[in-house]
Amino acid sequence: MLIRHAPRYPSSEITPEAVYLSRRAFMVGAAALTLLPGEADAAPPPPVDKLPPLKAAPHPTYRHADPATKLESAVTYNNFYEFGTEKDDPSRNAGTLRPRPWNVVVEGLVQKPKTFDIDEIVKLAPLEERIYSLRCVEGWSMVIPWIGVPLSALLKHVEPTGNAKYVEFYTLVDPEQMPAQKKGLFSFASLDWPYVEGLRLDEALHPLTLLTVGMYGRVLPNQNGAPVRVVIPWKYGFKSAKSIVKIRLVADEPKTSWSKSQPSEYGFYSNVNPGVPHPRWSQATERRIGEFRRRETKLFNGYGEVASLYTGLDLKKFY
Ligand code: MTE
Repeated sequence: MLIRHAPRYPSSEITPEAVYLSRRAFMVGAAALTLLPGEADAAPPPPVDKLPPLKAAPHPTYRHADPATKLESAVTYNNFYEFGTEKDDPSRNAGTLRPRPWNVVVEGLVQKPKTFDIDEIVKLAPLEERIYSLRCVEGWSMVIPWIGVPLSALLKHVEPTGNAKYVEFYTLVDPEQMPAQKKGLFSFASLDWPYVEGLRLDEALHPLTLLTVGMYGRVLPNQNGAPVRVVIPWKYGFKSAKSIVKIRLVADEPKTSWSKSQPSEYGFYSNVNPGVPHPRWSQATERRIGEFRRRETKLFNGYGEVASLYTGLDLKKFY
């Protein structure tokens, strides 16, 4: 993922090594002159084995044929730009996030707007463990046992009106808790805050869409979007907004962070599709974290049951 014209810091996965190394050298030099925004305030998040356990019933069908990715990888190889743009920044810097107390405002085109406390969200429906694969637009994937409730349980609670056609998700804006939101020399190289994502209402109501509060049997680690994020397994990972504080039901297609930053590269739909290359790399294959050989990417990340949501839609045009 590359942000605007700025030297966004793509992972070494998709960057020629020489470019990556020279960028590292540049950053090391730059760091000697000035700290990255918020770096001085950053602190590592609590060790994952100290997080409270969360009981959830294994979902009978949402399992995975492949073994789960090692927990160590899932909590150290992250994208969470509010804590920095390198893969290990969130696991080094996300200790400043305070996931409790936490509220999520649900508003907009609904009959019953409501502010949910995180403890209410956890009790909206019986917690389920669902093992999904997460395919990042950058060309890597993981298999993760998430814990959560169907997003539809929350949406039905607020009763969307007939005019509600889309759902917007907003991540927290608080530079004290999210140090990379501080304005600094390198702010130009990141996104505009808040991080905003969106779904069509029928996508949001699809049974696969999970309002996620935990993973690997425990509450969500800060670096993975504590205390609540969405997971939409048939879409590229950037659709799954982390550390959500607001959900809005709206009539028009939301302007999402990545599609605003690079409209030609990141569309609103962002369904996993091996037949639609990213302008700068193929999406035909992916590297499962922990493996060496690349594997073929499947349409809708293998979740073919969502195909009927897109009947008649040109998936190349609406990428
Ligand atoms: N949500 C916020 N608020 N900020 C981010 O930078 N990155 C996205 C998504 N959600 C991101 C975010 C991207 S690009 C991916 S691939 C996934 O989070 C990564 O989730 P993970 O770190 O739990 O694997």
